[in-house]
Order: sequence, then structure tokens, then C-alpha cells
Amino acid sequence: MSDKKQYLRFSLIRRVEHWLNVTAFTLLALTGLSQKFGTSALAVAIIRTLGGVERIRIVHRVSAVTLALVVIFHVGAAVYHLYVKAGRPTMLPTIQDILNGWQAIKYNLGFSDERPLQDFYTFEEKVEYWALVWGMVIMGITGFFLWNPITAARILPGQFIPAAKAAHGNEALLAVLAIVLWHFYHVLIRHFNTSMYTGYMSLEEMEQEHPLALQDNWKAPEASDLQFQKRRKRFWIGYSLVALVTLLGIWWFVTSEATAYAAVEPIPDLRGIELYNTPQPTPLPTPLPTPEKVRVLGTTWDDGVGEFLSNRCGDCHSSADSPGGLDLTSYNGAVRGGNSGPAVVPYGPGVSLIMVWPEFDWHLVKFSPGERTAIWTWIQNGAPEQ
Ligand code: HEC
Repeated sequence: MSDKKQYLRFSLIRRVEHWLNVTAFTLLALTGLSQKFGTSALAVAIIRTLGGVERIRIVHRVSAVTLALVVIFHVGAAVYHLYVKAGRPTMLPTIQDILNGWQAIKYNLGFSDERPLQDFYTFEEKVEYWALVWGMVIMGITGFFLWNPITAARILPGQFIPAAKAAHGNEALLAVLAIVLWHFYHVLIRHFNTSMYTGYMSLEEMEQEHPLALQDNWKAPEASDLQFQKRRKRFWIGYSLVALVTLLGIWWFVTSEATAYAAVEPIPDLRGIELYNTPQPTPLPTPLPTPEKVRVLGTTWDDGVGEFLSNRCGDCHSSADSPGGLDLTSYNGAVRGGNSGPAVVPYGPGVSLIMVWPEFDWHLVKFSPGERTAIWTWIQNGAPEQ
């Protein structure tokens, strides 16, 4: 710190709030925008670096909750300042701010030599603060819809959910651009402002940027110790209640639905994995198969399916002269099929005759439910030969 006179601009608490906000905001933007633009190479690189999409979705949610907690704290601190300490509402927009905005335009365009006389917060800072408040409201509401779509759709028409998604993503883009253009310009480029790191600003800078704050002659209305104590007590009772309700609200927000966590099931790999059989739609009504471990037959004709069919069906279906004209001992024979049509239709297990015929009572050879599922899955995957 230099020996120049310094003016305490931001208390430690203000700075902690600011940097928590920066951290949460940056993480939200990184993890959110890389999902919004998920197909771009940059997003893919970011997602990979951060450990995959499942991980960044969790980081996004944890950051959102952190930001919500900062808001609860901030509101409490603001009410304490305004109500208990009867402090000056420095962040409230005033007529002077509108005049200052006009003066700034004139000054920047060269129509005036006088810079606007600004208060503790300049009109630029107020615009940014209230834009942040507005953004948080939008992000909170639309974030709730995306996090809890079922609950949201109970209260509102379902179209609100895709609309919330569009609003959430575009508001995010707007917020990031506002920070990069507006905030970075004002605090880093126009002049490098260190008060958010050190807490202090030199008196010269204050005279330049915030002359009215130096003439601040705000006096809190006289209050006896007793009145002050009373206000403080009322504050703590009221704030504790509001904070408690808000915290419960956040808890509900976070836990009421698992919809948004559930990831898409990965495609099963029949090699080595023991799957449990689930009933498959069949063209003919059949009794529900009893759960049984799926036979591991391999995933292609060559690595198991072919051998299984030859062993099980080849006694009767081994050449084009076999019953039904069907040869199940070779891949081509299976695809060509018999007199009634192709026995294996890649991607079409429901219309593949090897799924249909063994269901007929008179066709004595059957698949077990597990075998049926394995063959069904193989065909559904395109009935690969190798
Ligand atoms: C014990 C002998 C036998 C075995 C083993 C056998 N089938 Fe058959 N299959 C038949 C007879 C008989 C027909 C009826 C032929 C006809 O309609 O002329 C037939 C017909 C079929 C057809 C219809 C062919 C067509 O195009 O008309 C399919 C498909 C079929 N079987 C699948 C299988 C599958 C799959 C297996 C192995 C799980 C199998 N079969 C095992 C005796 C057998």
C-alpha cells in the first residue's frame, strides 16, 4: 500500500462475496455454455478437461447452490445495513444516475468537457448490479424448471420447459458478454481498479471516480441504543425465519426430483456382462418370461451367435433342402431365410422369422427367455456378422 491517503471502499465481507460470486459465476458459465454449445470443438475440449459431461453437470449444480447461498447472505447484509444501521442506500438508482448517464454520453462524444459527478456507486456500477439481480431471478426460475421439469409441468404448460431452456442459455450468454464487455472494460481496461483486491482506493481516484461519495454527509437518523438493539433483535428474528424458509426452498429445489440427474442408460455389451432379462415386445402373445440371466452368446455371428444357432437349430436347418428351406448353419443362410422369408432381418428383430417361428407351439425347438433376449439384441444391433 502506498503512503497516499486511502479510502476504504470494500470491506472484507464485500470482497469475499465478490470473489465467491466470481468463482461460482465462472464455473457456471464454463460448465453451462460448454453444454449449450456441446458440439463445438472448444466445448468438447473443456468438457474433456473438466472430466466429462456427468462431472460438469454436478459442478454446474454445486456452483448454482453456492451462488444461491451467497444471495441469501447478501440480502441479509443489505437489510442489516439499511434497516438496523439505517445506512445510506448507495445502490439505489436515483434521478442523478439518469442525468449522469446522459452526461457520460455527452462527455464520451466530445460535446462536454465535464465528466459526470458520480456517487459511491457510479451509474455504470448500478446498471451492472441490477442486471445481475435480474439475471439471477431469471436463472433461478428457469434453472428450477430445468432441474425439476415434472414439478414445473404440474403447475405450468409443458411448453414452459423448452422455453426455460432457451431463456436459461441465452441469458447466460448475455451475462457472460456483459461481464466481458462492460465489467472488464470498466474495471480492468478503462483504468485498472484494484479496490476489489485490496479493499482500498486512493483519495485521488475517489475524487476522479466518486466525488460525491467524498462529500457524503449522510447521517443515520438519531437512534438511541435501545432502539438500535430493538431493530437488531427484530432483524435477527425476521432474517432467521426468511433464511430458514429459503434454505428449505433450496433443499426442495435440489432434491425434489431426480429427473435431471438420470443419465441415459449405456448400450449393454453382452460380452462378459450379466444382464437380467426384460420382457421384449413380441409379435405373438407369450407368457412373460421369468427373469433369468441372459445367455452370453457374443455380439456377432462369428464370435458366438453363429455357433449357438448351428448347435441349437442345425440338426434340422442345415441346408436349403432342410425343413422350411432354411439353413441356420451359415450367416448367409440365416439372412436369406427359408420358404417364408428372411430368418434374420438386421435391425428388425420383430420381423425376423427366427424370433417368430420358435414361438409356434408345433415348432418343438424353443429359445429360453435369456437366449431369446440375446438373439433379439444381436438382431437389434444390426445382426453383425463379425
Ligand atoms: C427338430 C427339428 C427342428 C429344429 C431343431 C428346429 N426347427 Fe425350425 N422348423 C422345423 C420344421 C419342421 C419347420 C417347418 C417347415 C415347414 O413349414 O415346411 C421349421 C420351420 C422353421 C422356420 C420357418 C422357415 C420358413 O421360412 O418357412 C424358422 C424361421 C425356424 N424353423 C427357426 C428355427 C430356429 C431358430 C431353430 C433353433 C432354435 C429351429 N428352427 C430348430 C423343425 C426344426
